Amino acid sequence: MEKILIRSAARKDIESICKLLQPYAKKKLVLPRTPVEIGRHIRNFCVAERKGRIIGCCAFRDYGNSLFEIRSLAVAQRSTGAGTGSKLVKFMIGRIAEKGDVRIFALTTSAPFFHRFGFKTVEKDLFPQKIWSDCTKCPKLNDCDEEAVLLEP
Ligand SMILES: CC(C)(COP(=O)(O)OP(=O)(O)OC[C@H]1O[C@@H](n2cnc3c(N)ncnc32)[C@H](O)[C@@H]1OP(=O)(O)O)[C@@H](O)C(=O)NCCC(=O)NCCS
Repeated sequence: MEKILIRSAARKDIESICKLLQPYAKKKLVLPRTPVEIGRHIRNFCVAERKGRIIGCCAFRDYGNSLFEIRSLAVAQRSTGAGTGSKLVKFMIGRIAEKGDVRIFALTTSAPFFHRFGFKTVEKDLFPQKIWSDCTKCPKLNDCDEEAVLLEP
């Protein structure tokens, strides 16, 4: 099996990240993100690369007070089921944990996937900052099927 490299993203990855997120944004599994927005936050992204092609991505957002969100997690449809999503999440947890005792949350329709890494399902109200910044703009606002998961030290 071809080796999968997980690395911090660079500006050259912006277009690939955008293309990866688009189909899942259409399905409302991740928030839509424009190239400009991705570029502005490129330092918070990591990517999975196989044979020089970007097959996965993941990002974090810093909310302050040691609270971080894992977001924009996506693996190209035909590359799923090979451990790439797990590698991206573990890499991101490692990167965020370098900042000290942190709490990491995600809003997701794939809570069982996050439970594998020690995240616990919690009430969404624990993250009012997220709700005010992203959820109010989300098409699923009044019909949200996502669960909040939290990883604590
Ligand atoms: C969720 C996603 C990132 C998983 O990526 P992946 O590369 O297929 O994940 P892995 O191969 O590392 O999966 C590891 C394990 O988790 C399981 N798993 C994968 N997706 C799952 C899900 N949605 N719910 C529960 N378990 C899941 C796999 O079956 C696998 O189990 P196994 O080790 O017993 O075989 C990918 O399916 C994806 O991009 N989904 C669409 C976007 C999305 O929903 N992103 C999350 C938003 S926060």
